[in-house]
Amino acid sequence: MVADALPVRYSQTTITELMIPAYANFGGKIHGGILLSLMDKVAYACASKHAGTYCVTVTVNRVEFLQPVEVGELVSMHASVNYVGNTSLIVGIRVEAMNVKTNTIKHTNSSFFTMVAKGEDDKPTPVPKLILENKEDVKRFIESMHMKQIIGSVRKQMDDARSHIDVERASELLKNERCILRF
Ligand SMILES: CC(C)(COP(=O)(O)OP(=O)(O)OC[C@H]1O[C@@H](n2cnc3c(N)ncnc32)[C@H](O)[C@@H]1OP(=O)(O)O)[C@@H](O)C(=O)NCCC(=O)NCCS
Repeated sequence: MVADALPVRYSQTTITELMIPAYANFGGKIHGGILLSLMDKVAYACASKHAGTYCVTVTVNRVEFLQPVEVGELVSMHASVNYVGNTSLIVGIRVEAMNVKTNTIKHTNSSFFTMVAKGEDDKPTPVPKLILENKEDVKRFIESMHMKQIIGSVRKQMDDARSHIDVERASELLKNERCILRF
């Protein structure tokens, strides 16, 4: 039976994984795709715990790798449901990499995954309300609410800009850019 409402702490999830050489590029840094895959897993675990059902990833926002992750570091992904809509959830993920030798922890990125809960019929299904128990929970909920509105309006502006690109004015539009027109 799916609950009517659940606190943020009910579904908070952390996964920690050792960064092995197979995850690294030729420079010894961990591939961004490896981190994204782990983030997707923790987002799923967190969202499905809250929803009480299977969830799918719809969008991923703010993926900026601020610092490289090295082989041998322990990467921890801390996930929380920041916001719920009717059938969607926004999961915030904080990624930290620990160097066990120096006992230092660096924050590599914070990203937001929008997940949608699916029912037995594979259609979006309502999720429990979110119980906000402290100021941090409230702050994150409001932040995600704003983020959702801003992303919606940016998407509209991008669609509008794309439909109004005038290739005939390319030489004027691109005169200060680092490209060469050869057609
Ligand atoms: C996401 C998906 C469930 C939306 O289905 P839909 O029939 O369009 O459903 P709805 O329009 O009713 O939207 C359902 C929810 O998704 C949200 N949503 C849909 N598209 C979205 C987008 N691009 N960004 C953010 N939220 C989105 C809606 O706002 C709605 O949220 P709410 O119920 O909290 O208000 C469907 O497109 C899907 O299954 N996509 C594939 C997801 C997947 O397989 N991911 C794995 C990666 S391959």
